[in-house]
Amino acid sequence: MDHIISIRDFSRERLDHILDTAQRIGDNQYDARALSGKILGLLFFEPSTRTRMSFETAMARLGGACISIDCVEASSIVKGETLADTIRVISGYADAIVLRHPKEGAARLASEFATVPVINAGDGAGQHPSQTMLDLFTIRQSMPLEQVDVGLLGDLRYGRTAHSLAYALSLYDVNLHTIAPKGLELPPNVVQELRSRKMKVREHSSIEEVIRDLDVLYVTRIQRERFPDTASYYGVASSYRITPELLEGVRERLIILHPLPRVDEIDPRVDALPYARYFEQARNAVPVRMALLLEVMK
Ligand code: CP
Repeated sequence: MDHIISIRDFSRERLDHILDTAQRIGDNQYDARALSGKILGLLFFEPSTRTRMSFETAMARLGGACISIDCVEASSIVKGETLADTIRVISGYADAIVLRHPKEGAARLASEFATVPVINAGDGAGQHPSQTMLDLFTIRQSMPLEQVDVGLLGDLRYGRTAHSLAYALSLYDVNLHTIAPKGLELPPNVVQELRSRKMKVREHSSIEEVIRDLDVLYVTRIQRERFPDTASYYGVASSYRITPELLEGVRERLIILHPLPRVDEIDPRVDALPYARYFEQARNAVPVRMALLLEVMK
């Protein structure tokens, strides 16, 4: 069965195939009844705007329908039902399940009990593979993934979108620059695996030292909800901010991405600059998730 749990399970060929399908969908070349009669189960045990609503939109555009659990409190998990039993039951209602869960590894666990494909929509600080697909899609709209310098900025310790994207970029001709506040660096095992895949990874202590050498700047927010206490969060909060002043002298083809939501890490004045692509990136979620749903449900 075709579970989508980690971007590490993907080859470059398979990712490119999904992105090529998404491109055709973006050009309106798709069958609006392709998933007619199919049902997607949405299980979101953490808040979401983009992932949830873009999966719903993708399903509607392909003629399918969604059923959902919006939060733990609205499910029988509050009565003590396990995730395993919940997944077993929803497998009987839906043709695929999208799961967002606060615990790393939850999607992998769910896939062991599901009898339909499970799509990981974020498992704690683990991975968010469908986000990565739309990130790659957005980069590809601006430049081929050849000889590209990509900067990952922010909470690289807890940021699952950064983890997934870093692994995916290691399949392409990319130099990776990581820029994180102290204590929020990319986990050493991730860096080690990227280097073992022959990726050049350079760690920087400030965005100022590398901003002019980047083609893509991927900004992430500090994942407040993953910190053990508020004091440690406030120790690093607001420690970086992208402003128009910071962007003076950057490469002409620079694009700035952000999985969103943003808090204060990108000055709203940046939104009007040609580098800002994060709202376009959020829009790209629909054709990319349509392509992914076709891949797992057809
Ligand atoms: N990018 C992303 O996962 O956004 P949501 O948390 O709103 O789904």
